[in-house]
Formats: sequence, C-alpha cells, structure tokens
Amino acid sequence: METTLIILKPDSVQRGLIGQVIGRFEAKGLQIVGAKLMQIHPVLARKHYAVHEGKPFYGKLIRFMTSSPVLVLAIRGRNAIGISRKMIGATSGSQADPGTIRGDFGISDSFNLIHGSDTPESAKQELTLFFTPDELLDYDRTIDPWVYDLLTEQTA
Ligand code: RTP
Ligand code: MG
Repeated sequence: METTLIILKPDSVQRGLIGQVIGRFEAKGLQIVGAKLMQIHPVLARKHYAVHEGKPFYGKLIRFMTSSPVLVLAIRGRNAIGISRKMIGATSGSQADPGTIRGDFGISDSFNLIHGSDTPESAKQELTLFFTPDELLDYDRTIDPWVYDLLTEQTA
C-alpha cells in the first residue's frame, strides 16, 4: 500500500470542484486517510515546492498556492502514487488528456487544480510537511475485498 499527498489547489476550491475531484478518487477505489482545509503559509509552500526554486514560474507558483484555501488529502491504495498522477494528467491544462482531472476541468497551464506526489520519496516528505502522524488514519473498509479482488485472496 502507498499513501500519497494530494492538494486541491486554490482554483479547485474557488471553482467549487472539491466534490467532483474527491469523487473520482473514491470511485477509483482509493481510500482517504487524511483531509485538511487550510490556507498554506508561504514558508510551507516554499518547502513543498523547493525543487522548483529558481525557476521562472517559482514566484508565481508560491503566490498562487498561498492565495486562497486548499484542501489537502492523504490518499492510500495499491500503487496510489502512480495511479493518482495518471488520474491528474499532464501539468498543463491545455495539454492534459480528456479523462484526467486537469484535462476535464482546466485550461490554464499554471492554475492546474491539483497536486499529486510523484515518487514514494516525495510522498513521504510531503505527507510529513502537511500532516502529523496522528492525522493519518488507519482504518479498514468493508468494500476492500471487492476493490482488490476477493477471489485472488481465496484461491491463493
Ligand atoms: P504538481 O507538482 O503541482 O503536482 O505539478 P506537476 O508535477 O505536474 O508539475 P511541476 O513541474 O512539478 O510544476 C509544479 C507546478 O508549478 C506550476 N507551473 N507553472 N510554466 C509554468 O507557468 C509552470 N510550470 C509549472 C504548476 O502549477 C505546476 O503544477
Ligand atoms: Mg511536481
């Protein structure tokens, strides 16, 4: 099981897309194990996007991410990191494929609705930035045998 950090960026919250975006992760079978509505402090935004420091879009990115509240989610499942990135789509709204979150809901190349961790290492680091350990919940779902194929477990 992997846990990934997802941020519904200020444009998602302002545009009233929270429900539709969370619904996609739930419908996929991924499990929400943490959730927090917050306005990101610039210090935290700079830490989160430290890898982009010095790039031409960095200042605008920090202003965007701190401009209005975001919804931060921790999402868990088998291959949750790669699956979430595929669901999110290419960075630019104008390039992202239909069927992806960015492809279906956005046009802007910088206000692109959502962030998802890109590797297990960045997921671990980003989850630590946004959640304390007790804010990430371990709980069983009764639907998991249907999500993950109960027949495999029975015949193994
Ligand atoms: P994210 O980290 O937010 O999940 O996005 P990503 O991996 O798809 O893209 P990344 O290269 O990490 O860029 C981080 C965020 O910076 C903004 N950006 N603006 N040329 C531009 O104006 C530009 N390039 C990137 C986007 O908000 C992007 O998601
Ligand atoms: Mg990135």
